[in-house]
Amino acid sequence: MDTLDRFSINNIRKEYLDFFRSKGHLTENSFSLIPKNDKSLLLIGAGMAPLKKYFTGAETPPCKRMATVQKCVRTGDIDNVGLTARHLTFFEMLGNFSFGDYFKKEAIQWAWELLTDVLKIDKDRLWVTVYLDDDEAEKIWHEVVGIPKERIVRLGKADNFWELEVGPSGPCSEIYYDTGADRGCGCSDCKPGCDCNRYIEIWNLVFTQFDKDEQGVYHPLPNPNIDTGMGLERVAAVLQDKPTVFDVEPLFSVVKKVSELSGVPYGSNDKKDISMKIICDHSRAATFMIGDGIIPSNEGRGYVLRRLLRRAARHGRLLGIKDIFLHELCDKVIENSKGAYPELGEKKDYIKKVIKLEEERFRETIDSGMDILKSYI
Ligand code: GLY
Repeated sequence: MDTLDRFSINNIRKEYLDFFRSKGHLTENSFSLIPKNDKSLLLIGAGMAPLKKYFTGAETPPCKRMATVQKCVRTGDIDNVGLTARHLTFFEMLGNFSFGDYFKKEAIQWAWELLTDVLKIDKDRLWVTVYLDDDEAEKIWHEVVGIPKERIVRLGKADNFWELEVGPSGPCSEIYYDTGADRGCGCSDCKPGCDCNRYIEIWNLVFTQFDKDEQGVYHPLPNPNIDTGMGLERVAAVLQDKPTVFDVEPLFSVVKKVSELSGVPYGSNDKKDISMKIICDHSRAATFMIGDGIIPSNEGRGYVLRRLLRRAARHGRLLGIKDIFLHELCDKVIENSKGAYPELGEKKDYIKKVIKLEEERFRETIDSGMDILKSYI
């Protein structure tokens, strides 16, 4: 197998699940993007979200160790999409979970084993962060794994404490990959936590110890748990030595298609590249969302979908694309992902139709707005 095949998204997904199966985990395919019996979330944005009931003890898990690859949509960082090397609104998250079974030591050791022994990432390029007062995690990283103290950074709540609005939460430890000084900001104190593109966070190990309620009070959980999340597209970019997640297949085929439809070469102009990346990300998000039964509307999940599609359509105009085009990108998204997500292949025509109708409707709204404006002028 050549390097690109070995480190393709499809193969990393498989290697991850195989590895955690070998460590006694029950592996599951992705749950839907629509949360089930959970009104606190609009969309699934983390591997742990569909498993919350097992962390809180509300339900007994089928196995105390589980591992999944989860489709995720997160729009909190939407303004960074296309601008940075790593932000996406749609991504796949690889996660291993312990429900009152193993804790910090195993989670840290296995993460290291997978990254360095199985995926063969250069140890010297890996850095880690730990929560301010988490001496235990630092000790494991240093004494058990052998990371030098200079490559262990302590960060505060904004970076190293993981939580949703409500539910399981706790301090975390993140693993970063150093892509090299030439991709960084050049500051002398550039290290994990810096906003530039040099250090890419690839894996977050959460030591889930609390259940946060609606008032923001943290209640200790009866058993400490483990919840980890690794960005599949990010780790693929690292393994394939690509500068951004958009240079990794299957995202790159979508970017290439946008370039072909607009006649704008990728890499020729920064602003245009950003538009291409935004279109790539949003069309992927929309394809998966519609595949899970969400339709554009003016509220809730449907509104998120509408905003993503309209934002992508606007960037298409900025690139000079005259006709509706977003439905054409679905073919690329689906072609590459339907092996892992068969629902995309089964619903292909439907997904394309929904996207086409929404883009047509948006175009009519814009055109009639322009006519009104012109008549005033
Ligand atoms: N739940 C861990 C993460 O999303 O990073």
